[in-house]
Amino acid sequence: MIQVSIADQSVSLDAIVEFAESIFTAGSDAGRTQRKILTNNPAFACENFVVARDNDRIVGVIRMVPRIIFLKGQSLPCMGISTVAVDPEFRHKGIATKMIQVAHAAGKDRGFGLAVLHARRVLDGFYPRFGYVGVGRYGKLTVLEPPSVSIKGSVQAGHITELHMQSYERMYKKLSGSFLRSHEQWQFIAATQLAVVGGNIQTLMLGARPVGYVVVCAGVVVEIAYSHDVSCVEIVEILCKAGLVEFNIHPRHPLFIYLRSTFTTEYVERFTQIGGYMACVLNIGVLTSVIRDAVSPGLWEQSSMAGQKDLIRIDFLGARFEVGKSLLQFNNTGALLRCVLGVVAAESVFCDGVSQEAAIAAALLLNAGYHSSVLDDV
Ligand SMILES: CC(C)(COP(=O)(O)OP(=O)(O)OC[C@H]1O[C@@H](n2cnc3c(N)ncnc32)[C@H](O)[C@@H]1OP(=O)(O)O)[C@@H](O)C(=O)NCCC(=O)NCCS
Repeated sequence: MIQVSIADQSVSLDAIVEFAESIFTAGSDAGRTQRKILTNNPAFACENFVVARDNDRIVGVIRMVPRIIFLKGQSLPCMGISTVAVDPEFRHKGIATKMIQVAHAAGKDRGFGLAVLHARRVLDGFYPRFGYVGVGRYGKLTVLEPPSVSIKGSVQAGHITELHMQSYERMYKKLSGSFLRSHEQWQFIAATQLAVVGGNIQTLMLGARPVGYVVVCAGVVVEIAYSHDVSCVEIVEILCKAGLVEFNIHPRHPLFIYLRSTFTTEYVERFTQIGGYMACVLNIGVLTSVIRDAVSPGLWEQSSMAGQKDLIRIDFLGARFEVGKSLLQFNNTGALLRCVLGVVAAESVFCDGVSQEAAIAAALLLNAGYHSSVLDDV
C-alpha cells in the first residue's frame, strides 16, 4: 500500500535528495544541479516535501517552494511546485496525482493564493487536469539599428553584491509576476547558479564603476537591473558594446519602454497555454485580498456573508457579478478580471468565456513569465 503524505521527521532529507537526484539522472550534471538546488534552497525542510512511500522506500516526491510574487506592487504568497518525480517502477498508478492533491491541500492550509510551476513540454496535458493554466509569456525584442558606442562601458563576470539586490528590488518590484528575492534567496542564487552553471550573472561596468547587472541566456538579455544614477542611454551603450541587442524582458521594464520608443526594434511575442510557467488558484480569498488595492476603489467588495467567505461581488459596468467557489454568475471571470486589473480594455470583457479558476490565474499573472527562469527556483 503506497502512502502519500507531507514528509515528517521520520523521513530522511538525504533519502529525498538521493531519490530526486536518481530521477533527474544521478551522477550527471542534471543530477548534481538538482542536488545543489534542493539542498541550497532556503525552503529545504521536511514540511516542504510531499513523499510517496512503499513501506520505508521513497517512490515519489514533490517539492513545495514558498515564494512571494509581486502583483501590481502587492505581495502575493504563492506555492511553487517543483521536483515532481515518481519511481519508474511505480508510474501510471496515480501516485503523482495523489501527491499533487496533497500538495494543493497543504498549500491551501498554508494560505497560498496560487500554485505556480514550470512544466516540461513533454508533460503537455498533465497539469491542466489539476486546474493549471499557462501563464508564461515570451517576448523577444531586437534592436535593429544599435547606436554607435562611445563610452567606456563593459560587461564583466562578478559576484553578487548589494548593488545587484538593491537594483533588482528597485526595478522588479513594480513588475507584476516577479519574485520577491530576500537576502536568503540571493544566497541561494549565488550558491546554485554561480557555482553550477558557471555564472551567467554579469556586472554592468561604466568605466571602473559597477552600475548594475545583466543575466544573459543564449545571447538574449533575460534580466537586467541597475542603479538610479545611471541612464538608459548609458545602459544601452554598455550592452551594445558587448553585442547584446536581444531582450526578453517585461514590457513594463523601463529599459524595454526606452528601447521600444527610441530605436527601430522588432518585437515577437508568444503566450504559452501549456508547458512553461503554469499556475492554478489555491485560495480565491487570498487572491482577492491581495488584488483589492490594485483595483479602483469602489469597483468591488468582498462579501462578509457568513459561510461565503470566498464570494466576491464585483460591481462593474453597471452590473453586479458574483464570483465564488460554488457561485459564478458571470461566465467570463478571466476577461472581467483582466479588465479590472487594467490589462485589457473594457470592450473585450464580453468575449468568449473560459473555465473560471484557470481564467482567474491567467488574468492575475498575465504579465508573469518574464521573470528570469534562469535564476529563480519556483
Ligand atoms: C510525470 C510523473 C511524475 C508522473 O507520475 P505518475 O505517478 O506516473 O502519474 P499519474 O499516475 O498520477 O498520472 C499518470 C498520467 O499522467 C500523464 N503522464 C505521465 N507521464 C507522462 C509523460 N511523460 N508524458 C505525457 N503524459 C504523461 C499520463 O496521462 C498518465 O496517464 P496514464 O497513467 O493513464 O498513462 C512521472 O512520469 C515522472 O516522474 N517523470 C519523470 C520526472 C518528470 O518529468 N517530472 C515532471 C517535471 S515537470
